[in-house]
Amino acid sequence: MPLDWNGLFAPRMAGVTASEIRELLKLIDQPDVISFAGGIPDPDLFPRDAILRAHERVLQSNSLAATALQYTISEGYTPLRDWIAGRCAMARDEILVTNGSQQGLDFLGKLLISPGDKVVVTAPTYLGALQAFSPYQPQYIPVPTDADGILPDELEVALAQRPRFLYLVPDFANPNGVTLSLERRRQVVALCRRFGVPLIEDAAYSALRYDGEPLPTLLAIDLEAGQEGRVVIHAGTFSKTVVPALRVGWLAGPAPVIQKLVLVKQAADLHVGTLNQMVMHAVVEEIYDSHVAVLRGAYHRRRDAMLAALQETMPEGVTWTRPAGGMFVWLNLPAGIDGARMLERSVAEERVAFVPGAAFFPDRSGKATCRLSFTTNRPERIREGVGRLAALMGRMAEAPAA
Ligand SMILES: Cc1ncc(COP(=O)(O)O)c(C=O)c1O
Repeated sequence: MPLDWNGLFAPRMAGVTASEIRELLKLIDQPDVISFAGGIPDPDLFPRDAILRAHERVLQSNSLAATALQYTISEGYTPLRDWIAGRCAMARDEILVTNGSQQGLDFLGKLLISPGDKVVVTAPTYLGALQAFSPYQPQYIPVPTDADGILPDELEVALAQRPRFLYLVPDFANPNGVTLSLERRRQVVALCRRFGVPLIEDAAYSALRYDGEPLPTLLAIDLEAGQEGRVVIHAGTFSKTVVPALRVGWLAGPAPVIQKLVLVKQAADLHVGTLNQMVMHAVVEEIYDSHVAVLRGAYHRRRDAMLAALQETMPEGVTWTRPAGGMFVWLNLPAGIDGARMLERSVAEERVAFVPGAAFFPDRSGKATCRLSFTTNRPERIREGVGRLAALMGRMAEAPAA
């Protein structure tokens, strides 16, 4: 008799379903599809030469190679921790190197959430964060955002319910491209301090700014307010600024929290691959700032191309965000148009893909929204894809039930 595997899975996995984005990416990987779906870097911009040089340098040296191919400490490769610590004005013992920032989110869920605990997220929020936290069985409290980020009054009401933490992406958020304003940053940190609620700052896109001056991180604002009562745990990554494949990210936070997270890391996988950490360290030492400048230049042009094309072609009733950085524009569709249904038609009729917005809401609301990524297509293709999408939307607006 075949084993009833579904009956054997732990109840904590009941609410965990396949990511629509990842399932989708499998289907649209065809050359004639213009995809705005994946929130991924452009492979043509990967710093391959620097990565090759770094591998050679590490592996051709007897002593470096002996370290690179050996187990290492769970905290992370010390020169890399020091590089990261220097960049965020932290001490080495306040940094844990993780296998991408995604692992950091999972660890924080494991460390902080017991079944039924409340967790505050923005609506919409990063789908991968929901996937990381959900196996620990939280109850989400979604808080809406506007063009300046999370709404402080609603946040206060949520924090009064004593959640285990607040998670947000303050810069050019995945999925809606919104940036938390300076005033709101101060309010959010002050509120979390007042209620004694940890604040997880996911800074995945922070380095990819195309307009204006960088805003202080929530981590920096928290530190300014003093060591006592610190609330911020900051998740960073090299996936968007160097390459995702080496899987190097980090958590930065108060030393006692990092010490506990080191134990979680030991249990999970001992450490991030030593060779990857050493290569990443060599690469960032050599090219980080110049490479980020190249990425910002290229993505800036693509962001502008997408915003201009939307302006020129979208039918009335469609509105969108104007991100100052990152990878995403977020569309609000006319009432009655369902993003998932539009995707089906868009792939079939126009060969254009994107991500329907509902997946980014813990309660699956937000059906009349969708996320477009502008990073992997050149400006001409962006214009072509947005034009095709607009044509479909025009047809759907004329006959919404079709
Ligand atoms: C907001 C956000 N956080 C974290 C991640 C995870 O990135 P990584 O694990 O590659 O560092 C992503 C990836 O798309 C993201 O969009």
